[in-house]
Amino acid sequence: MVKFFTSSIAGMAMAVAAVYAQTTAPAPPTTSPGVTYPPVNAVPPIDSPEVVAWLKEIDLTGAPTIPLHTGDPPVCPNPPIVDECYWTCDGCSADDITACGRPNTWGLTFDDGPSTDTPVLLDYLKAQKLAATFFLIGSNVIQFPDLVKREIAEGHHLASHTWSHHALTTLSNEQIVAEMKWTEKAIMDATGLRMKYMRPPYGDINNRVRFVLKKLGYIPVDWTGDAFDTNDWQLPTMTEETVLATFTASLDAYAASNKSQGFYCLEHDLNNLTVGIAQKLIPLGQARNITIAPVPVCQNDNQPYQLGGTAVIPTLSAAPTVAPTSAPSSTVTKGAAPTGSIKSGAEKRYIEKGAMVLAAAVAVVAALA
Ligand SMILES: *[C@@H]1O[C@H](CO)[C@@H](O)[C@H](O)[C@H]1NC(C)=O
Ligand SMILES: *[C@@H]1O[C@H](CO)[C@@H](O)[C@H](O)[C@H]1NC(C)=O
Ligand SMILES: *[C@@H]1O[C@H](CO)[C@@H](O)[C@H](O)[C@H]1NC(C)=O
Ligand SMILES: [Zn+2]
Repeated sequence: MVKFFTSSIAGMAMAVAAVYAQTTAPAPPTTSPGVTYPPVNAVPPIDSPEVVAWLKEIDLTGAPTIPLHTGDPPVCPNPPIVDECYWTCDGCSADDITACGRPNTWGLTFDDGPSTDTPVLLDYLKAQKLAATFFLIGSNVIQFPDLVKREIAEGHHLASHTWSHHALTTLSNEQIVAEMKWTEKAIMDATGLRMKYMRPPYGDINNRVRFVLKKLGYIPVDWTGDAFDTNDWQLPTMTEETVLATFTASLDAYAASNKSQGFYCLEHDLNNLTVGIAQKLIPLGQARNITIAPVPVCQNDNQPYQLGGTAVIPTLSAAPTVAPTSAPSSTVTKGAAPTGSIKSGAEKRYIEKGAMVLAAAVAVVAALA
């Protein structure tokens, strides 16, 4: 919450407007040869023949009977639900991956794509000889299948970020299946690969969601706590200067630690601003001699898909030979949370774009009223 109380309400409105502008883009095609996909950016219906068939393939009996969260964004249950293990509210991550399993390594990930700004990022990563993991939104995959193919051709790793980017703890078990399987199909149709890793939108995950994901063969990858949320999604409400200074402090704290584990960042190939800032954040890591790698390298997984062995398996990105001369030095005093720490309470809930931003704006207005 702290971050949001320091922002202006006008800024909130701008952020909300930006999100709406993004989600009200011209209606995309919902079909590709021989396939009819569900409407984009909406939770797919669970009574379609496809979803009915997918539900028959898995056994959901034994799923934890945790009530669905309500609200957009969902509110933290009070009192907390015993054994829910709700990362968003209590920082509990169960067996989710929360850190890159390689020392001194930045697990490079981009969420919410592909978008019209993705090619600029791909050009940059190619020039830098870097590979990343892209957590793709199914609704975007069917609009830009060629970008998804390009990501594979250029040695990147793909993973799932659901069909419509809804908070999964607010959806029924069957709706979660529909979100995951339609995305799986969209990426398979584009690449022949069945995804194995996923990132829950907003980091919104609990033991019920985990149960369903596991039945579908998915491994959740969260990020390494608030210190490694780059805040790119807050641009332009948060200034570029603040984003860079905040992340510089996190990297300095990491560089001063024993670095026995790596970290995963939260970044987005969502728009011109997030793609632009990525090209300023990455040099900060390179200047500190931190290796940059996608999820399969971090997790030492040479089979990073459930199916489809023909993809190029990303290799370790080449270490930079020359540190960028223009790398900014830290302008912020130390004190960022160390690797792995997660702030508790409400603040961590306001992550990523969209509904969470809107709700934060509403909360600010309510608090000031
Ligand atoms: C490195 O630091 C972490 C967290 O502070 C600690 O748990 C771990 O034991 C340390 N590892 C070594 C090799 O000192
Ligand atoms: C963002 O858009 C501006 C204006 O069109 C353009 O000059 C700039 O190169 C873009 N940046 C990126 C990273 O695409
Ligand atoms: C950079 O890191 C590599 C291994 O990650 C290490 O071998 C090398 O000594 C480091 N170089 C500097 C200048 O810190
Ligand atoms: Zn997202």
